[in-house]
Amino acid sequence: MRTPRSVRTADVADKRVLVRADLNVPLENGRVADDTRIRASLPTLELLLERGAAGIAVCSHLGRPKGPDPAFAMAPVEARLRELLPDKRISVLENTRFHPGETKNDPAYAHELAAGRDLYVNDAFGSAHRAHSSTEGVAHLLPAYAGLLLLDELVHLGRLLGDVERPFVLIAGGAKVEDKLGVLQQLGGRADTVLVGGKMAAELAQPASQSALEGVDLVLPVDVVAAASFDPDSETRLVRADSVPHGWFGLDIGPQTQNEFAARIKEARTLFWNGPMGVFEWPRFAAGTKAVAQAVAESDAYSVVGGGDSVRAINELGLTDRVSWVSTGGGASLELLEGKELPGVAAIPEA
Ligand code: 3PG
Repeated sequence: MRTPRSVRTADVADKRVLVRADLNVPLENGRVADDTRIRASLPTLELLLERGAAGIAVCSHLGRPKGPDPAFAMAPVEARLRELLPDKRISVLENTRFHPGETKNDPAYAHELAAGRDLYVNDAFGSAHRAHSSTEGVAHLLPAYAGLLLLDELVHLGRLLGDVERPFVLIAGGAKVEDKLGVLQQLGGRADTVLVGGKMAAELAQPASQSALEGVDLVLPVDVVAAASFDPDSETRLVRADSVPHGWFGLDIGPQTQNEFAARIKEARTLFWNGPMGVFEWPRFAAGTKAVAQAVAESDAYSVVGGGDSVRAINELGLTDRVSWVSTGGGASLELLEGKELPGVAAIPEA
């Protein structure tokens, strides 16, 4: 895999630096609900400050606004960043997606971002799969470097694409099978076992999906917690995975599946987990995701967790320090693991 040149090699003293970070964090009641991505962007900003940068303009998108929209203003993110790193040399630009040119990779907007700045550091791993003005276009207008987080992500996720210690167990869950089929095909073919839970397990039980994954050792749930309606207080029944009553929903993996998955995870020497095993944000359907999180945390394998929901589960359970790497990327980590080139990385000159 290509290694982009590091911000550590840049001469930043007295320079005005544009930093693209991924500060796309969840907000609740106008406040940052989870600051993981803000914290993850601190080492690069600290390095720039230590090395005497004259000014650091941090930019990011937040959400998917269709233009200027106060609900997606950067103010709460800026407030949290300032609490964590109070330094007058840092300024935070307004949401890049308020500008209509951003997602079109419009050169005019890239020029606007580059104006008055001496160099560009891309630390936004979570957005590196987007070819937008702030992630790709501007990298061609200023001397461009990779930030520390982006480089760490490439090293840790890249390890899964190299020679891994075996057994290599992939755990996949969540709802969007179509987003994950590519990874299941690419990485699943290299894994010794693929444990599948969540909504995608039901879809993968269909023969058409299974033929797309020929050669992959899929382990599907044997039992599920079925709910009469899609609602946190619904009537539930523990049933065999192939016997979910018509019109009911399988909202978590059952205890037998949890034990089976935990046993496979225990044997692994390399683990990658993406996606919850059920609707874990509703406590009655969280047991499967918790069991997987616990088993991953107890394992001494090289373990990587990626994707917003599985990361949230591992954070909420206080198990973050017990896995080898928690990726800040959702789509970006999946595309990287599919073997795709990330435009935000490709635009930075090689080391
Ligand atoms: C993410 O949350 O995965 C990144 O910030 C990218 O966001 P996007 O899917 O809206 O481009």
